[in-house]
Amino acid sequence: MSVLSGKKILLAISAGIAAYKTASLVRLFIKSGAEVKVVMTPASKDFITPLTLSTLSKNPVSSTFYDKEDENELWNNHVELGLWADLMLVAPATANTLSKMANGTCDNLLLATYLSAKCLVYFAPAMDLDMYQHPSTKTSIEKLQEFGNVLIPATSGELASGLVGEGRMAEPADIVAFIENDVLSKLPLKGKKILITAGPTYEAIDPVRFIGNHSSGKMGFEIAKAAANLGAEVQLISGPTYQQITHPLVRRVDVVSAQEMYEAVHKEFANVDIAILSAAVADYKPKNSASQKIKKKDASLEITLEPTKDILASLGNIKSKQFLVGFALETENEIANATSKLKRKNLDMIVLNSLQDKGAGFATNTNKITIIDKTLNAALFELKSKEEVAKDIIHEILKRTDA
Ligand code: CTP
Repeated sequence: MSVLSGKKILLAISAGIAAYKTASLVRLFIKSGAEVKVVMTPASKDFITPLTLSTLSKNPVSSTFYDKEDENELWNNHVELGLWADLMLVAPATANTLSKMANGTCDNLLLATYLSAKCLVYFAPAMDLDMYQHPSTKTSIEKLQEFGNVLIPATSGELASGLVGEGRMAEPADIVAFIENDVLSKLPLKGKKILITAGPTYEAIDPVRFIGNHSSGKMGFEIAKAAANLGAEVQLISGPTYQQITHPLVRRVDVVSAQEMYEAVHKEFANVDIAILSAAVADYKPKNSASQKIKKKDASLEITLEPTKDILASLGNIKSKQFLVGFALETENEIANATSKLKRKNLDMIVLNSLQDKGAGFATNTNKITIIDKTLNAALFELKSKEEVAKDIIHEILKRTDA
């Protein structure tokens, strides 16, 4: 999955011959899972038609402040477009457009949108080699970089003039790869390793029966996704669940019992920066698991249980640099119980779910959490989808670590 998946990309096209390549750019962005809107200068329509771009992007293309032929004369809102985008790419960026961007000129919709945009702006220059070398172009590029915009350098090669040299717009696939790498390198969890446990554990009574619980694993899987989307390398250790995850930064290990989860977690713990234990681990397991299926008898059946190892507490005992997060599912005296768990297990943060709250806990798509940290501050959150809750949890961890 591309890091651009789900991103809103505003492609701004100015009038250079390389504009013909923007059709491929739009296709590549769409293929990466991004949503694309196009704004273009009126003159760039001589190089590529808005119809091509609106068909490929599946969105209307804007080039003027309002459409003269439209009797309603609808205003194309540059502020809205600028705010809509997660990132903006000016490609091709001609010498003229670069100069205007650098100097705050605002005589077309593309420039007004650029000035309104709050997101990161990339620009891919394209022009003839002498124009590219001209001091005024160099000054424009430097100024734009000083403003925080990101240059995607032009490459060398044959130019439309027939001359050979620097000034060719980077190829569409290289532009997409450049932006992907840049976005990835700026993610807040880039380079961090996170261990996450999820789902229930099953403790065998005999070869066909077990003691388990209703945990769906959804919360842990959403946390894994949220962390990976912010660039973390995630080691997800999951009990039996139907949840699926496909993310290049998530490595999944499946386990069944609390003992297997304990071993898998301890294998990884020394190498991670953050551990989030959201699994609903069985607290007890049958003392003896029968090797053959237990036959029905008239007499009652007693199964003796013994405690499983507390994985979270065992990590609290050995942690050094790791930021350790536990979960608490409570039915009464919630804050007091969760706080005591935080202290007892030597945690940095605990995520509390109360079964008193409708829509919280196991097997729902929503959750309502309270986060308590070492300073014993309790932050209460609204009922939200587990996807949103996962983002809140990661955000709270980010606030408390150097990540
Ligand atoms: N946990 C664990 N290993 C266990 C049991 C629990 O790692 N054998 C972790 C869970 O993943 C969760 C936290 O401990 O992060 C809280 O689990 P919970 O069962 O609520 O806490 P307990 O310490 O078992 O306390 P109690 O049963 O009294 O609520």
